[in-house]
Amino acid sequence: MRQDLKNISARVSSIAPFHVMRLLERAKQLESQGHQVIHMEVGEPDFQTPAPIVDAGIAALKGGQTFYTPAPGLPELRQQIAAFYLERYQATVVPERIFVTPGASGALLLALSLTMDAGQEVLLPDPGYPCNKHFIELLSGSARAISIANHPKKKLMPEHIRSHWRNNTCAALVASPANPTGTTYSVQEITDLHLACRENGGVLLLDEIYHGLDYEDNISSACQVSDDIIVVNSFSKYFGMTGWRLGWLVVPETLCEMTNRLMQNIFIAASTPAQYAALSAFQPDTIKVLEQRRRCFQQRRDYLLPQITELGFKPLGTPSGAFYLYADCSDLADNSYSLCETLLEKYHLAITPGADFETTSPEKFVRFAYTTDMDKLKIAVERIRQWKRDTSE
Ligand SMILES: Cc1ncc(COP(=O)(O)O)c(C=O)c1O
Repeated sequence: MRQDLKNISARVSSIAPFHVMRLLERAKQLESQGHQVIHMEVGEPDFQTPAPIVDAGIAALKGGQTFYTPAPGLPELRQQIAAFYLERYQATVVPERIFVTPGASGALLLALSLTMDAGQEVLLPDPGYPCNKHFIELLSGSARAISIANHPKKKLMPEHIRSHWRNNTCAALVASPANPTGTTYSVQEITDLHLACRENGGVLLLDEIYHGLDYEDNISSACQVSDDIIVVNSFSKYFGMTGWRLGWLVVPETLCEMTNRLMQNIFIAASTPAQYAALSAFQPDTIKVLEQRRRCFQQRRDYLLPQITELGFKPLGTPSGAFYLYADCSDLADNSYSLCETLLEKYHLAITPGADFETTSPEKFVRFAYTTDMDKLKIAVERIRQWKRDTSE
């Protein structure tokens, strides 16, 4: 017998759906009707997981590695992540501070659980990664999204932190490179953000999930700045392992014991075969493949950025990392949501409306994900050009 649930928690009912999922569903319908849809909506690399990682995962499964690992993760994987920090960033991070998690999503949930209490507030840039607000609300806190559009750098800056910090504020959370703008924070900017949080008795959380997908000077990790910054990372994007659900969290030494307890209780541990597979992620032959892919993403950005600018979109900030271009489309259309619908329905091009990322001016912005090959990007640009011709007739 079916019984309707009467009590759905208020926390859960305030969680908004992703518009992009609806667009994706519609894009799939159009494809099933025989249309060639160009996908620039979803934030995952179009490359498969590199072969050495897949092989290691298969070998682990065949070798019977199907049991729980220790809660903080396989010791040898934590070692390898620590060695990666030393090699790539010249940052010393002891393995005991590294916790292997179910994706950056798991790391974000742990990081926020460690830092905030019910009723507390976390500062976030607007636009930003939409799930952060929902994680905070699930923990009965509130997210304070601060518009960065008026700042010349289009990033959350120390002055934002100082002017918006209130008695119940406990942390600021930013991503570098950022989703959806692709902007990155320099070592000086991270230091200044960290100091602004510290002087208010709070903590900085830095999401570095798009590290490795950065296209300018060497990107800095918060691990180079201070052991007190909580750092989120993942195997999803640079390592091409979205579906394996594996990430990690770096915490200050004082939080290791509590993080261990949280890991045990919330997740028990991250996926065992995925952790064994990730042991091959840092091998030179894997890194070689990943670096080739990085160059591909850079070529795509270098192609797309001038093209969409010429078409009349105005990118917000300098997109120097990740695989997104977030651009103001208000000179071209009154409403970004209907622009996305028209481009999908009539031109079979899927991009994401600003409503998924911001509350300040969602109707003015769209996000392009260049997670598709150059040939398709060229078709996408041509389709937008055609839409412009059609609408000016
Ligand atoms: C900024 C940011 N953080 C975290 C995540 C979650 O990633 P994961 O697949 O590692 O859980 C995403 C996913 O797109 C993201 O864009």
